[in-house]
Amino acid sequence: MPEPRHPPRHAIDKAPATPDDEHPATLDACRRCTLWRNATQGVPGSGPSPAPVMVVGEQPGNQEDLEGVAFVGPAGRLLDDAFERAGLSRDSVFLTNAVKHFKWELRGKRRLHKTPAQREIEACHYCLEDELERVAPRTVVALGATALKSVLGAKAVSLRKVLGQPIEHEGRIVIPTWHPSYALRVPDHAAREAAFEDIVAALKLAAELSKGKKRR
Ligand code: URA
Repeated sequence: MPEPRHPPRHAIDKAPATPDDEHPATLDACRRCTLWRNATQGVPGSGPSPAPVMVVGEQPGNQEDLEGVAFVGPAGRLLDDAFERAGLSRDSVFLTNAVKHFKWELRGKRRLHKTPAQREIEACHYCLEDELERVAPRTVVALGATALKSVLGAKAVSLRKVLGQPIEHEGRIVIPTWHPSYALRVPDHAAREAAFEDIVAALKLAAELSKGKKRR
């Protein structure tokens, strides 16, 4: 795996964000917020297009930033286990993130994830909208509150209140569940197991509803 760049290659470019640039030509040319400055690259979604199910995470992590592919790090491995338990093949699903550049801060030698701000979620929304239009999923699994906010176009959401409940939105069914990192880091073993089971249940439901099956 490549080494992280310290300082990142773009750090000397102090150009301001251009949030009014409605449609940047490429992800790497996007300057709608400033996250690109410290990221190695933009990480687009990947998977079949069209696809019946889309899974949306928060933003690329350290490994995704270096490899340029979504969900290839620890959260992705947990997601792979959840796909397997749900009887869904990862290859049949379009996987992406609400925010396409890694936001981080340096702690010692490690680049630690920072939650994207609302303005960064909004700046990146055009890209998720493009993917939704192109992939045309029937169901969308939103992993965590950032993904849910972006998919619903909402400024605030209460993930716990709607967890696992299908929400009709703009002709699609959105299923909110935990972000896999939550299922990895919550200290209590039983809570970790429960969060994993919730993710599996959300994926199963997404697969079922994408085929037009009715819920019991
Ligand atoms: N977390 C995410 O939300 N997305 C990734 O791609 C990796 C970790």
